[in-house]
Amino acid sequence: MHLQALLGLSSLALAAIVSACGLEGSEHHHITIRDRSRDENEIQDDKFVTRGFKPRCGPEIGKCSDGYCCSSAGFCGDTQEHCKSPDCLMDYGRCDAHKRPKGPPTSTIPRPKIGNVLYGPSIIRSCNVPGTVALTYDDGPYKYTQDLLDLLDRYDAKATFFITGVNNGKGQIDDLNLPWASLIKDMYLKGHQVASHTWSHQNLTRITSDQRREQILRNEAAIRNIIGVFPTYMRPPFSSCDIASNCLDDMGSFGYHVVLYDLDTQDYRNANPEAIQQSKDIFDRELSYWKVSEKSWLVIGHDIQEQTVYNLTEHMLRRLTDDGYRAVTVGDCLSDPRENWYRKDNRIISGPNDKTPKAPPAGNKPVSTDGTCGANHTCIKSNFGPCCSSHHFCGNSTQHCGVGCLPDAGYCFSPNTTTLNITDSLGGAVNTESKISAAHSIYGATSKAGSLVGNPALTLGRPLSMAIVTALVGAMLFEL
Ligand SMILES: *[C@@H]1O[C@H](CO)[C@@H](O)[C@H](O)[C@H]1NC(C)=O
Ligand SMILES: *[C@@H]1O[C@H](CO)[C@@H](O)[C@H](O)[C@H]1NC(C)=O
Ligand SMILES: *[C@@H]1O[C@H](CO)[C@@H](O)[C@H](O)[C@H]1NC(C)=O
Ligand SMILES: *[C@@H]1O[C@H](CO)[C@@H](O)[C@H](O)[C@H]1NC(C)=O
Ligand SMILES: *[C@@H]1O[C@H](CO)[C@@H](O)[C@H](O)[C@H]1NC(C)=O
Ligand SMILES: *[C@@H]1O[C@H](CO)[C@@H](O)[C@H](O)[C@H]1NC(C)=O
Ligand SMILES: [Zn+2]
Repeated sequence: MHLQALLGLSSLALAAIVSACGLEGSEHHHITIRDRSRDENEIQDDKFVTRGFKPRCGPEIGKCSDGYCCSSAGFCGDTQEHCKSPDCLMDYGRCDAHKRPKGPPTSTIPRPKIGNVLYGPSIIRSCNVPGTVALTYDDGPYKYTQDLLDLLDRYDAKATFFITGVNNGKGQIDDLNLPWASLIKDMYLKGHQVASHTWSHQNLTRITSDQRREQILRNEAAIRNIIGVFPTYMRPPFSSCDIASNCLDDMGSFGYHVVLYDLDTQDYRNANPEAIQQSKDIFDRELSYWKVSEKSWLVIGHDIQEQTVYNLTEHMLRRLTDDGYRAVTVGDCLSDPRENWYRKDNRIISGPNDKTPKAPPAGNKPVSTDGTCGANHTCIKSNFGPCCSSHHFCGNSTQHCGVGCLPDAGYCFSPNTTTLNITDSLGGAVNTESKISAAHSIYGATSKAGSLVGNPALTLGRPLSMAIVTALVGAMLFEL
């Protein structure tokens, strides 16, 4: 078999992979195959050899040279194919997954287990409000997600998005130069449910407890930067999170509901116009066994799949509507009130103090006296908080200082970025992607993020650059 030959696996190993994929996410294995042919071309490139470039990496071989990523097939390189999560091998080189969102970590925010829905280590596999269908979409947002939101609107349907922070080479969800943040804000404002599918889509059963913590907390900070809150609902990537590894207990201790599904459309297996009919058939067949008055459904799909967005979803919406079901969020199909779906990050953001080295450019505008801000007034030193929101109001919440924040009228988490070029003593690029906020950001890389820096595996290739960034950014301007 073609796939088997390329991966060089025994039938047994292949069977294991295929059955694991049966849970979710076979798309990743296609990526593996592409990696290999690309990488083989690249190691023949002389320029890498003369720079002392290590071509191979992995468990038996070791790490790539500083700054290079280790692909799933064990080749070093710095292309998106090498560095993109979840395939990039985090323990053997740089990866997208090592990026971290700006702003204070969410680790100190209390996580009471509010509401009646079970938290980890329990697993939620079904809804309990008869007559409801919770359509859920994993792995996005992606380029099809806007069209999916429009389609859901046309059917007056609500859905749940299990969002991954940095996967498939899409960049960080809270990067203002990318479309993802505004999509997520839109989802949230339209009443869809925004839930977590972790930072970089690793197999949570396989990684350490410290790594799981990073996977959870980084996605929280990124989502918080966008909507000011972070979710209490999560779905483990590959549906993999077991008791033995302590993963389910960890999810419980972070205050998460662990959500699986009771209707798998298998859309990722049927991701072409011919095959998608099989997913429609699965959906129709399952629904036909039950009475609407007795049943609810928790359906898994993926908005990174073109056919899911442009074909399967409308089929499901028509069918469920015809049968008399309502398309609602996971929270709704479990009768969990909306305020329980998220935790607020209400921390007070303080303005600059006397030690601030540079006055931000906004400083020479008159200070807002009525709480509005923008072209004519700055929030800095105002009584309303130092950040100017996209709606032109001053405030000190993460919603004012996060995505949409106006850098010309106050402080922002990340109003602008400058790329640092840092080289280590060997002349190799340590971290060509390290972005820090410009001088008028209130957050840099700070020691308060120390809890996220702890794991050497996750900071590979970064300690030097992080030290420099910390030194450059200097003063910590926020209080916890
Ligand atoms: C996740 O990791 C566990 C433990 O190593 C393994 O049994 C499982 O097959 C993995 N799942 C996937 C999809 O790789
Ligand atoms: C949608 O799916 C059907 C099979 O159910 C297929 O015949 C059709 O070509 C697909 N449409 C598009 C636009 O891909
Ligand atoms: C800013 O001030 C100018 C000049 O006074 C005025 O024309 C403009 O409408 C003001 N803009 C806002 C948003 O208040
Ligand atoms: C932050 O905002 C809240 C609500 O507007 C206010 O009560 C509090 O005093 C503000 N704190 C600072 C430091 O501006
Ligand atoms: C960042 O700041 C520079 C100069 O202040 C400006 O030219 C540039 O457009 C800004 N970039 C973004 C993305 O705001
Ligand atoms: C970073 O360094 C490279 C090579 O030395 C150079 O081409 C590039 O322009 C530099 N980028 C910045 C932002 O300084
Ligand atoms: Zn997934």
